[in-house]
Amino acid sequence: MKTAITEMFGIEHPIIQGGMHFVGFAEMAAAVSNAGGLGIITGLSLKTPEDLANEIAKCRDMTDKPFGVNITFLPTLNPPDYPAIVKVIIDGGVKAVETAGRNPAQVLPHLKDAGIKVIHKCTSVRHSLKAQDIGCDAVSVDGFECGGHPGEDDVPNMILLPRAADELDIPFVSSGGQADGRSLVASLAMGAQGMNMGTRFIATKEAPVHENVKQAIVAASELDTRLVMRSLRNTERVLTNDAVERLIEKEKMLGDKLKFEDIIEEVAGVYPRIMLEGDMDAGAWSCGMVAGLINDIPTCKELIDRIMTEADQIINQRLAGFVKGTVNA
Ligand SMILES: Cc1cc2nc3c(=O)[nH]c(=O)nc-3n(C[C@H](O)[C@H](O)[C@H](O)COP(=O)(O)O)c2cc1C
Repeated sequence: MKTAITEMFGIEHPIIQGGMHFVGFAEMAAAVSNAGGLGIITGLSLKTPEDLANEIAKCRDMTDKPFGVNITFLPTLNPPDYPAIVKVIIDGGVKAVETAGRNPAQVLPHLKDAGIKVIHKCTSVRHSLKAQDIGCDAVSVDGFECGGHPGEDDVPNMILLPRAADELDIPFVSSGGQADGRSLVASLAMGAQGMNMGTRFIATKEAPVHENVKQAIVAASELDTRLVMRSLRNTERVLTNDAVERLIEKEKMLGDKLKFEDIIEEVAGVYPRIMLEGDMDAGAWSCGMVAGLINDIPTCKELIDRIMTEADQIINQRLAGFVKGTVNA
């Protein structure tokens, strides 16, 4: 399948693995890229820019296909050393960057000068238009269903994707709630040029996370995620667990008076304990509603091949059948 996204990033299939904290290491990115998608290393999961440089080198040893790096701009008083991160990305010869969080204007000129394609993840049409205005090459349109930070507008992809298609000139991929061939065909139908997946890629053989995390996703239904930190305007969709229920109780009790310090135990520094040690009640971790569509733990290649085969069948049999007037199930 050829789309503006496969051409832009030099990949075989229009499928991207979004940056994921303590998941998007070299093993994850290389497995997705080797399967013909675009794998992404999560820049901020590495302690220092030097560690990120080593991770990029490691990924390059594991795949000769294109892969990218995610740079997330966090609302924090002590920002990471973004200029140094950008430098190791450029020096490492990476050709794709996924930005997320705040507006990436501060890093964009450097990335563009180095010939890097930048896809910015946005949860609204207005942010997508802003990304287009400042010169991003593409956007990842992240609907309310998504694992992680869905923003504060709560617009699901059934509305957000066609709205993006109506307004944008640059190509975009769907993000949030995508899992299979049906997701891909629906995304293309709504104007996207491909899709981005997070949660689905965690439940794969190569994802470098504890087996408990993969099993928790397979066991979860679409009813098992919760939104937390809304009153801090930092809403996050997470899988429910004891820590999340405790966090929600605190939110109910404190209302608008809630401060980050009140929930620090449930949210700060919990990713290594969950992702690496498999301590599933350690705290709040991002997970999409799409968990309800995830029932197995394939390799990345099995997953992507299955998606492409399914998409082909839907387009050429089911949909073509409707057009030809064949009644099909
Ligand atoms: C465990 C986890 C960690 C994530 N960490 C990040 C991150 O550090 N930076 C980022 O831009 N997006 C992050 N995301 C969001 C994903 O890149 C992607 O946009 C999202 O998962 C899409 O929704 P889906 O999970 O329904 O596929 C994370 C998602 C998950 C599930």
